[in-house]
Amino acid sequence: MCGIVGYVGSRCAVPVLLEGLKRLEYRGYDSAGLVYLEKGCLIKHRAQGKLANLEAKLDRVRKFTSHIGLGHTRWATHGSPSELNAHPHSDCNGELVVVHNGIIENHHTLREELQAGGHVFRSETDTEVLAHLIEEALAGDRSSLTAAVRRALKKVHGSYAMGVMWNGEPELLVAARWQSPLVLGLEEEGGGCLLASDIPALLPYTRQVIFLEDQELAEVRADGCTVRKLSSDRIVKKKIHTIDWSPTMAEKSGYAHFMLKEIFEQPQAILSTFRGRVDLETGQISLPEMALFDRELKGLRRIVLVACGSSWHAALVAKYWLERWVGIPVEVDIASEFRYRHLLLDKKVLVVPISQSGETADTLAGTRLALKSGARVVAICNVLGSTITREAHGTIYTHAGPEIGVASTKAFTCQLVALFLLTLYLAQVRGVMTAQERQTMIESLVELPALLEQELENWQTEMARLAEDFAKCRDFLFLGRGNNFPIALEGALKLKEISYIHAEGYAAGEMKHGPIALLDRDMPVLALAPQNGVYEKMIANVEEVKARHARLILLGSRGDKNLARLSRHVVYLPVVAPDITPIVYAIPLQLLAYQMARLRGCDVDQPRNLAKSVTVE
Ligand code: AGP
Repeated sequence: MCGIVGYVGSRCAVPVLLEGLKRLEYRGYDSAGLVYLEKGCLIKHRAQGKLANLEAKLDRVRKFTSHIGLGHTRWATHGSPSELNAHPHSDCNGELVVVHNGIIENHHTLREELQAGGHVFRSETDTEVLAHLIEEALAGDRSSLTAAVRRALKKVHGSYAMGVMWNGEPELLVAARWQSPLVLGLEEEGGGCLLASDIPALLPYTRQVIFLEDQELAEVRADGCTVRKLSSDRIVKKKIHTIDWSPTMAEKSGYAHFMLKEIFEQPQAILSTFRGRVDLETGQISLPEMALFDRELKGLRRIVLVACGSSWHAALVAKYWLERWVGIPVEVDIASEFRYRHLLLDKKVLVVPISQSGETADTLAGTRLALKSGARVVAICNVLGSTITREAHGTIYTHAGPEIGVASTKAFTCQLVALFLLTLYLAQVRGVMTAQERQTMIESLVELPALLEQELENWQTEMARLAEDFAKCRDFLFLGRGNNFPIALEGALKLKEISYIHAEGYAAGEMKHGPIALLDRDMPVLALAPQNGVYEKMIANVEEVKARHARLILLGSRGDKNLARLSRHVVYLPVVAPDITPIVYAIPLQLLAYQMARLRGCDVDQPRNLAKSVTVE
């Protein structure tokens, strides 16, 4: 997820661009850049790292007079964080520039074709192909940048929110959107228009905004914006919305906390994580970033998953998938234990460190030990260019975008998606899953974003209602079985880390071996009881809980009439493939923890004693 901003109007452009980038820095901050047009030349400034590094560069520029420009703050997906890979990106002659948020899925093919046609690339990014494609389109017809952008985008597969500037039309910004957000701002007085990835960048100048929809293109000029259909070029009449957010609310897109915003970003984050990796027609999974040969994958004898916290819970779920579908023994290790054990690893073992940040000290230490042992190491990580990704043999990236809230939510479900893809990929390479089985699994994954979009608001309401009843509890027990046992652990972790309630996750079958002694009217129990292979056993455990008068919350399958008999607090969830329930059931638990913490007046985004990335032992 990156941040784009553009301005054309009566103001000096650079301060507007910088202010906009500051307000979008939550969307990505591994590099930044901007471009403006002066005396017919497109002048770029870019810097690696935080926005302050770009500002330091700009401080050295005598003065700015330009009234038009584009800016970008990057969350790297293709090409490591560096000045060279920072946006804007130019065509061969520096006559046009592009800023982009999204993923160009066919960028390899396009780059090869363009290079064969003589185009010289300077970066490792997928975005740069857009600049050269538009250059190609202009070479055929220099009458209109808008028409050239439309022609260029016909060749692009993937997602984009983009801004384009060309010195051939010095008063025009062209913007286009497909599955990445883009909003236009119309200045009330003074005259000027803006484009941005998100509303916060617009608010210092206007509250009048136009939301671009998918497959729409906008021509942005000082005196106004014209929106067209990308396919037909037909002008579209757009509603102008008035935003009444405070600047603080705006940074969270209107949500009270980053954590809540990130919970609601999960449909898009999950889509971004599997997009370009599953082929619905052929049922093929592609993970080129694995960086391991098929013969190495076919020769694997064991898999070891290493992680901490929520990432460890994701690993526990993956053990069920990998052993069921790939047929290889899987060990799951807490990284702080793994790094001090006598490790039995060799090149026949695949070690998978899982880390949102890619900087967790224990997981990084485990990664290094695995590398030293000769094991093959493929990381799962959300931050391109982070230490673990630079040291592992390969990395499967989650595309969750920056996760600001300390409690992991979208990163966790995207880790599950990445691990699910790894399962399908290994099964495909080792030939141990039929095409039909794989097709069914892919379909259940691909349906997830739309399903979650439909459910999230209801879950939010239901969890807020439950929180009213349970927020004053001192303890909580979460029970699950099978691949939902790790989700019980995750639900307990979410609750304890942001509401400070003592919560434990337990395998439901373990209750009778001790924890059942805890049960009384003051011990609330939340049980995960989807209708799956262990449902009857789970219901038996629920009966044991009920018999000891514990207050019971049940999460189960929509249509299961058995649940209402067992508890008056039942949350019905959509029926999905058994393998997918961990991803679905994790999200209401995130919302329950959020609502409980909110009612308890806790600092949801920055809970006491915690850090987003534990870079020390
Ligand atoms: C989860 O909500 C916590 N923030 C924490 O357990 C986290 O998952 C753990 O510290 C691992 O972090 P990583 O994924 O960045 O390695």
